[in-house]
Amino acid sequence: MGPIRKVYHFMIRDSSARNSSRRAFYRSLIQLLGAAIAAVVAAPAAAYLLLKPKASGADDLVEVADLSDLPVGAPQEVVYYRTRVDGWKRTREKTTAWVVKTAEKEAVAFSPTCPHLGCIYHWEAERSDAEGKSAPSFVCPCHASTFSSQGDVLGGPAPRPLDRYLTRIEGNMLLVGSKIEKS
Ligand code: FES
Repeated sequence: MGPIRKVYHFMIRDSSARNSSRRAFYRSLIQLLGAAIAAVVAAPAAAYLLLKPKASGADDLVEVADLSDLPVGAPQEVVYYRTRVDGWKRTREKTTAWVVKTAEKEAVAFSPTCPHLGCIYHWEAERSDAEGKSAPSFVCPCHASTFSSQGDVLGGPAPRPLDRYLTRIEGNMLLVGSKIEKS
């Protein structure tokens, strides 16, 4: 009976050692899973708290026109899309600018809203002045402000010239930013 008892004791010891190593394995696994879940939850929160949200996309320049397609001195309304970044929110929006090519590799881009009270103005190429002389100009329909092709105020209540967008020329392409440079 002596050897059988020994074997029995050995089996009990062996099985309890296996149980304790299994428990240790599951404990480690649960801790690992807990750490992984904590990391998944904490990473976005840390990014939110520590990383600065982008500013309003002021420096994002967008290609709006090929200058070789534009005539010099004749304002053209260009339609394009830009991405507005507001904190963590990015919105793609359709917008317009009035572009005036002033030389082969030079152009200005005006915001499409009147600097008086924000109406949308337009270009009248066939416009004449009071004496019947040709006077092409930008005209605002709301309170009759008028502007030259360079954006200067010719008449009406507008308090300043047309607002300009930041521009850059790369090759023949005109790039326009969303930042308005007030005159
Ligand atoms: S809003 Fe343009 S003239 Fe008043």
